[in-house]
Amino acid sequence: MKRQKIIAGNWKMNLGVAEARSFVATLSEGLAKSENQAIGRSPGPELVVFPQAALLFMAKENGLNARLQWGAQNTYWEEKGAFTGELAPTLARDLGATYALAGHSERRQFFGETNESAVKRALFAKRVGLRPMLCIGETLAEREAGQTEAVLQRQLAPLFADEKSGVAGLSVAYEPVWAIGTGRTATSEQAEAVHAFLRGEFAKAWGADNAESLPLLYGGSVKVENAKELLSCPNIDGLLIGGASLDPKGFLQIAAHALV
Ligand code: PGA
Repeated sequence: MKRQKIIAGNWKMNLGVAEARSFVATLSEGLAKSENQAIGRSPGPELVVFPQAALLFMAKENGLNARLQWGAQNTYWEEKGAFTGELAPTLARDLGATYALAGHSERRQFFGETNESAVKRALFAKRVGLRPMLCIGETLAEREAGQTEAVLQRQLAPLFADEKSGVAGLSVAYEPVWAIGTGRTATSEQAEAVHAFLRGEFAKAWGADNAESLPLLYGGSVKVENAKELLSCPNIDGLLIGGASLDPKGFLQIAAHALV
């Protein structure tokens, strides 16, 4: 099955208003160039950015949203209430976000996110019409102890325990923690092996057809130089890019590799 590729930029706590506008302007100029026009046409990749939440209003600014989708980095599992500091997924949606990240490793590492809470965020985002991108991945110690698959199974267990979930709108980003922001990318063989394993887990839980339609992204020190090889792997359907996504020209060069 041919799955549409997704090229997503996780800006984390970077880029303010002026910088984000300049990113979009440069990206739009780049997309208008003849050599890049195929990126903007079907079956070109979906392009998504995850800015700081306060910038999501830009998703509906004229001219900014034609080829670019916007997503929230973190959303809560209720529509409203006394949850200081959280972002209502309905607000993100109303501002124009179409995607929501859940369970990024920095949320797990620094803010107490658990396997259960990450999945709750993803499922609620889906319920209000956002497309959740659930992030999972093992630490270096876990990989070296041969626990990668067991860790991923534990991270996915709450998702598979929810009978009502299902694949529509969901994507999963495999981001080995040891590869995030370290410059140490997983080799395409390592990434493909994990992605094939993950697709197998989804097939067991939700059936082969659902597993085949699920977009599985890789993230962790993705750069212009390694994007092509990663994207050529049969089970890698897209990339979640941190540092390298802050440069619109590089982001576009990475997106160009999603065409081949
Ligand atoms: P990185 O971050 O590309 O800077 O390693 C990836 C991520 O955290 O999503």
